[in-house]
Amino acid sequence: MRYINVKDLTPGMIIANNLYDNNELVLLKANTELTQFYIDRIIGLDYDGIYIFDQGDVEKAKSIVSDETRIKVIGKLKKLDIDACMFLANSIVNEIQNSDSLIIERVTLSSYDNYTYVHSVNVDILSVIIGIGLGLRNEELNKLSQAALLHDIGKCDVPVEIINKPARLTPEEYEEVKKHPQYGLERLRAKEKGGDDIAAVIKNAVYSHHENWDGSGYPRGLIGEKIHLFARIIHVADVYDALTTKRAYKNALNPADTLEYLMANTGIMFDKDIVSTFLQYVAPYPIGCTVLLSDGQQGVISENNRINLPRPKVKLSNGTIIDLTEKLDVTIISILM
Ligand SMILES: [Fe+2]
Repeated sequence: MRYINVKDLTPGMIIANNLYDNNELVLLKANTELTQFYIDRIIGLDYDGIYIFDQGDVEKAKSIVSDETRIKVIGKLKKLDIDACMFLANSIVNEIQNSDSLIIERVTLSSYDNYTYVHSVNVDILSVIIGIGLGLRNEELNKLSQAALLHDIGKCDVPVEIINKPARLTPEEYEEVKKHPQYGLERLRAKEKGGDDIAAVIKNAVYSHHENWDGSGYPRGLIGEKIHLFARIIHVADVYDALTTKRAYKNALNPADTLEYLMANTGIMFDKDIVSTFLQYVAPYPIGCTVLLSDGQQGVISENNRINLPRPKVKLSNGTIIDLTEKLDVTIISILM
């Protein structure tokens, strides 16, 4: 299985996972052979890259949370159904706990029209994995999952032309976007006026997910541990997912470079314990990506090593597999795709 830029797709390639359109309907099922018509559709939906099978591959791209759950959650987020989201956030925790591997490969393939919703689900999954890594108990994981899933709920109160603007924001527009944690808190408070009780930690995390460790964030400019743990977790997950996703005005950063960015910003934007926990779970070189090795050869990542994520197994074009935990004189120089 190989991750490939949509502009390199050619008819006859076989796709390795389901692709969805902007209404969460299956556009193409895994194992479909691409035609030029399908390729044009995929490009039209603004996918950045997709997974295809190489000859001899059998395994489909695995995801930690099922497509069915993702689609259900996206539908409920679109309808602003907070109760259903809270309930589904617990199912997400369950699915993650029952997953055979918690290694985060490429999070999801998505097209940018649905960005806010897909992003919320991704941030939820990443946050829960960090929570598990930090040893949080079930009840706390459920609350973390609920807060993460709803972290950007206030964006529905920011004018849609700003949220979906296919270009960088002006300073005035950015000031408006920066109000979304406040709007999110107000949404949750309004729900409480309707008689529901929402845990204080959830409201706090939604309100504080853009605070930076050094006090340079918003809305309150809180410093260090004054920022609730859940908000610090969601902040790392949020930035990771935002940077690795293509938007209309920017390309996706690859996972390895994004992890560099997180590391460079520990103690500035992020809590270092949370970043170091995250690094234990997220693959800098996800399965399927093409890399350049220090001996000049190119290969595709075929397997990640749970205890040594920076040194995966790499399949060369002649079919040989190099295990970088054994071949210590070779390193990965860069991700080519
Ligand atoms: Fe946000």
